[in-house]
Amino acid sequence: MFTHAIVRTPGKSMVNGLTTAHLGPPDYAKALLQHGDYIQALEECGLDVVVLPPDERFPDSTFVEDVALLTKHCAIITNPGAPSRRGETAAIKKVLLGFYEKIEEVQPPGTVEAGDIMMVGTHFFIGLSERTNEEGARQVIAYLEKYGLSGSVVSLEKVLHLKTGVAYLENDNLLACGEFLTKEAFQHFNILEVPEDESYAANSVWVNGVVLTPSGYPKTRALIEAAGYTVREVDVSEFRKLDGGLSCLSLRF
Ligand code: GLY
Repeated sequence: MFTHAIVRTPGKSMVNGLTTAHLGPPDYAKALLQHGDYIQALEECGLDVVVLPPDERFPDSTFVEDVALLTKHCAIITNPGAPSRRGETAAIKKVLLGFYEKIEEVQPPGTVEAGDIMMVGTHFFIGLSERTNEEGARQVIAYLEKYGLSGSVVSLEKVLHLKTGVAYLENDNLLACGEFLTKEAFQHFNILEVPEDESYAANSVWVNGVVLTPSGYPKTRALIEAAGYTVREVDVSEFRKLDGGLSCLSLRF
């Protein structure tokens, strides 16, 4: 169970965020409203939400999930693979010092974005992507092992981050689409297959028994409900325009 979340309100500079989506620039006013509803959804799940102010220096800084991996025993500050995002880590470290005694940091030449890391109990799957390299994954696994946790790598072929295409919903249930349906590493899970035309909804988040899903993906919603979960939809259309998903918008711990 999670008790806390950290989010960062998007800044106006989000319109300059990294993207490959070809969906046009985000509408800032709409993004603020959507972000507010996202916070409300986390609170409905029982979380105490720390809301950080916008940081206009970093257009992608609302995607706080990428800059730290939070475990029960330690926090690991990442080193984002996207050069424009590297400066985001200093501010998040300051915040995490208020919650964690043990803070580790990925060092160059290692690069890691925690959107590439999926927690399954005490094990962490780490996607090797354009943003997370082998050296970064090696460092994260070494830190995890120091605290009695474990990690393993999964190669990505198509998507930005591991959690772009896969979400662990606890109870052995894995929401997955595309390249992740056939990965050897995931075959022991009960795979809930997200249809290709709803692939964006594979980035859903389990929070204390409730699954947050993006609005507008009815087949995926039905799939998750059929597996016995309560679903809370959140409209994140403006963040999708920046390749961002529900999980990217918070650190949950
Ligand atoms: N726009 C989010 C990212 O590319 O990191």
